[in-house]
Amino acid sequence: MEIIIRPSPEECASIGGRIIADLIKRKPNAVLGLATGSTPIPLYSELARMHKDEGLSFSEITTFNLDEYIGLPGDHPCSYQFFMREELFGKIDIRPESTHIPNGESDDIERECLAYEQAIAASGGIDLQVLGIGSDGHIGFNEPGSSLGSRTRIKTLTGKTIEDNARFFEDPNQVPRHCVTMGVGTIMDSAALMLYAFGEGKAEIISKAVEGPVSAMVPASILQMHPCVKVIVDEAAASQLANIEYYKEVYQNKPDWQK
Ligand code: F6R
Repeated sequence: MEIIIRPSPEECASIGGRIIADLIKRKPNAVLGLATGSTPIPLYSELARMHKDEGLSFSEITTFNLDEYIGLPGDHPCSYQFFMREELFGKIDIRPESTHIPNGESDDIERECLAYEQAIAASGGIDLQVLGIGSDGHIGFNEPGSSLGSRTRIKTLTGKTIEDNARFFEDPNQVPRHCVTMGVGTIMDSAALMLYAFGEGKAEIISKAVEGPVSAMVPASILQMHPCVKVIVDEAAASQLANIEYYKEVYQNKPDWQK
């Protein structure tokens, strides 16, 4: 795991922007895994800026989002379809047919989940997956106790996640109880992973995920087993890491061959 600590979310986002731009340069038809929520917003603004100012093109890119609520229509402002159009897809030159978000409105969710896994495999697999982390340690919507080998499926959100996400809804009672999410195993199949977290509210769970034992009770801790993970956090989210000084030293003194 590489732990990158920067002063602000914007500086964290600019690192992710460069990583994605390099990937697209190397592989114009790369497959990106994307997240929603407030954490990736600075990254998506940076990608939109790079598209506008630097001509970064997404025209051959394919994307797969991690998750979607069950029962929210795609035009609902809290659906992840709506979020992705507003925050990223509507601002770059990606082809709409190359973007994939689990369909939370299907009347056959199990078939939908299988088809999602098949579509990821048919694309050649995810080259780089962007992740946020829930305050309970979830990645995607794989709540504590999720199988670390799980695949795309329906999940029930915990009370904590419902409470955390109520801020996006006019009425907290509108937060759906169920979602479709890529599994932990699906996420771990990605060639590379980039986990973002900002703010003091994420400090405790970041320390558990990065430095604690690997456990299904902290699904993000499984990332310790992946060979290519960057954890990109601001100072506040890094504040409870025991090895914080070491991570900073490593990043500041990266030899040229590693940059
Ligand atoms: C969203 C997702 C979730 C969020 C997590 C953090 O697609 O997969 O795991 O990344 O709930 O949400 P924010 O960023 O709103 O704190």
